[in-house]
Amino acid sequence: MTDKLILDQNFGKYSGQELQILISEEEIKKRIRELAAQISSAYQGSIPIFIGVLNGSFIFMSDLFREISINGEVDFIKISSYMDETKSSGTVLLLKDISCDITNRDVIVVEDIIDSGLSIKFIKRRLEESNTRSVRFAALLMKEYTKIDFPIDFLGFKIPNKFVVGYGLDLAQKLRNLKSIYAFK
Ligand code: IMP
Ligand code: MG
Repeated sequence: MTDKLILDQNFGKYSGQELQILISEEEIKKRIRELAAQISSAYQGSIPIFIGVLNGSFIFMSDLFREISINGEVDFIKISSYMDETKSSGTVLLLKDISCDITNRDVIVVEDIIDSGLSIKFIKRRLEESNTRSVRFAALLMKEYTKIDFPIDFLGFKIPNKFVVGYGLDLAQKLRNLKSIYAFK
């Protein structure tokens, strides 16, 4: 595992920039096992539907879901809020809605990271249009400055207000395959 990474010429204006490890692969694994244990015990007797938010959550979702010890189902929703590589546009678009029926079901939204909170609020509103039994939120990361007026029930880590990549999180669609989470220096 390298704790530093320098972006090559494929990263345009970011090439030459240095990234540093923020959360290691081992720390992520350990925290995910804890979150999965919490979720599994909270949903005893239910079969929750895990709804992953594409694209960023696909790795977190697959690792989290494999640690879940109760029955569960999986679906995905896809939204877009980013205008350029590192800034939110302020408008959220629904690119792919859920495909399953969530009526009277316990739903757990699975997000990679909560930054401005705009995306998660949008998804919450979308899911509230359906008559679910419950909607709760799991997120691997949340930035320190983030303010939302509802709880993230299963949160992995609070992180500094920096742009991060790896473990599903991208810079212009790349770097999702890094096993640890890296931050810009
Ligand atoms: P929000 O709507 O501002 O909360 O942003 C949420 C979405 O933006 C996340 O689901 C990520 O896909 C993306 N995002 C936010 N912050 C970062 C970051 O630091 N690195 C990579 N993607 C991010
Ligand atoms: Mg995302």
